[in-house]
Amino acid sequence: MGSKSVAFLIIWMYLARISTGFVATAEPATTENTFSNITANSTDRMDDFSDIESRFALRSNNEPDDDLCYIIPGQPQTIVECNFNPDTKTFIVIHGWTVTGMYESWVSKLVTALYEREPSANVLVVDWLVRAQQHYPTSAAYTKLVGRDVAKFVNWLQAELEYPWEKLHLLGYSLGAHVAGIAGLLTKDKVNRITGLDPAGPSFEYADAQSTLSPDDALFVDVLHTNTRGSPDRSIGIQRPVGHIDFYPNGGTFQPGCDLQNTMMMVATTGLRNMDQIVKCSHERSIHLFIDSLINSEQESMGYRCSSKETFNKGVCLSCRKNRCNKVGYGVNKVRSRRSSRMYMKTRDMMPFKVFHYQVKVHFFGKTKISYNDQPMKISLYGYSGEKENIPYVMPSLNTNTTVSFLLTTDVDIGELLMVKLVWEKDMLISWPWWSADTLHIRKLRIKSGETQSRVIFVAKDGEFSYLTRGGDAAVFVKDKEAQSSHKSERLHKLRMQGSSFTKSSKE
Ligand SMILES: *[C@@H]1O[C@H](CO)[C@@H](O)[C@H](O)[C@H]1NC(C)=O
Ligand SMILES: *[C@@H]1O[C@H](CO)[C@@H](O)[C@H](O)[C@H]1NC(C)=O
Ligand SMILES: *[C@@H]1O[C@H](CO)[C@@H](O)[C@H](O)[C@H]1NC(C)=O
Repeated sequence: MGSKSVAFLIIWMYLARISTGFVATAEPATTENTFSNITANSTDRMDDFSDIESRFALRSNNEPDDDLCYIIPGQPQTIVECNFNPDTKTFIVIHGWTVTGMYESWVSKLVTALYEREPSANVLVVDWLVRAQQHYPTSAAYTKLVGRDVAKFVNWLQAELEYPWEKLHLLGYSLGAHVAGIAGLLTKDKVNRITGLDPAGPSFEYADAQSTLSPDDALFVDVLHTNTRGSPDRSIGIQRPVGHIDFYPNGGTFQPGCDLQNTMMMVATTGLRNMDQIVKCSHERSIHLFIDSLINSEQESMGYRCSSKETFNKGVCLSCRKNRCNKVGYGVNKVRSRRSSRMYMKTRDMMPFKVFHYQVKVHFFGKTKISYNDQPMKISLYGYSGEKENIPYVMPSLNTNTTVSFLLTTDVDIGELLMVKLVWEKDMLISWPWWSADTLHIRKLRIKSGETQSRVIFVAKDGEFSYLTRGGDAAVFVKDKEAQSSHKSERLHKLRMQGSSFTKSSKE
């Protein structure tokens, strides 16, 4: 057995340990378990701080890595001692289940990023490490007690300072997201916002709203789902929407750069000491996407409302009308609809995660019948401010006389589009030299940009058609100046016609 396969084996054993830890129970954390009477009979004892086991550290901008000062419920002098600023926002960060019993490295990164964006804010970290390092189902059940601790703390702090509820923002990762939800349910008034960072799935997928994060827990609840691969209640992250807006980056299942090949590379370079972070790559990506939104505010990722990942991948959901698109992370527009909105977007595999989304629509003409599946294409986009060449795309089905719509992304801002090249690559397995090359004719390409909401029609650079030949040269398309201008004159015409009639113009 080579060293490579040994490393594989170790990774799989580790993965198995972590996932059985997560999945050991299929029993939802509902009314049956031993901790259930806590929430039901909690309000009457909310001023009793003696049973609070969680600790609340106010981290400082200068030393974001350590818990140096604790604010203790019932001891008002600790508020002053820790230099809590009553005039600014407060973030309360809540960690999740832990194998090691120590803070994971993301905690100080998130604290630093919050201070970077809001330097005068108060950033508190909830320490519930002792309860969080139990067998997973036990820690999952403890979310109720920890949530109650947080609620008591927030109620007390608010009452002591007459602190405005709208300045409170809870951020919870994994089990911590459900802690935040339970806390939000038990506070005297609603906190302004809860951000759920890949809320834990096992024990919670089928649990009731009182036991999980839900839209009722704050004025606004936004959620990032990044590790929902697997069957419901077995995936590490919860699959169903639990907020007002639920973002599913890259479909929510699994994140780019987190595959086994990358894991191998990381093991090779950093060794096994960061093993838990490597294994939880997709789960933890939710945090790094949020950090990205805090520190790269000029490169905000956009998400688009869509019914499913599959529909999104067809490129048909890139609309921003009626709040259908939104900014991901800190700068989100707090849109509250009665039903949760599922929003989708693609990302890069590293920070800054933002990509630019395009819908490409194309009709393939042909005299002879052509029908293929999974055809490799390479698409190049050229614009005023940049270009992206040879973006690989596998066309699921390619048939004569059909229209195809698909999603294409670039990690560079190419600006207003000018030219597009399309190459149909040779499928290595079945391209014999004596076969006549298949050719399709394309008259127009329609491209819609999600980020700018612009629609551009492209026409063949030379002649009426461009020819897309398997294994052949690129089909080249340029912006159709006539189409843009005729569209403009059409609109002008419409405007002139409607200008004469009040009834018509009022309808517009
Ligand atoms: C829940 O209630 C039962 C009796 O109603 C009690 O025996 C048990 O100790 C309670 N559990 C906790 C965690 O308080
Ligand atoms: C609620 O808690 C109080 C005080 O601990 C106790 O006296 C009471 O019996 C509890 N009520 C229920 C329904 O368990
Ligand atoms: C595709 O449509 C064109 C007319 O639009 C027709 O001439 C051609 O035969 C069709 N091709 C096939 C394979 O049906």
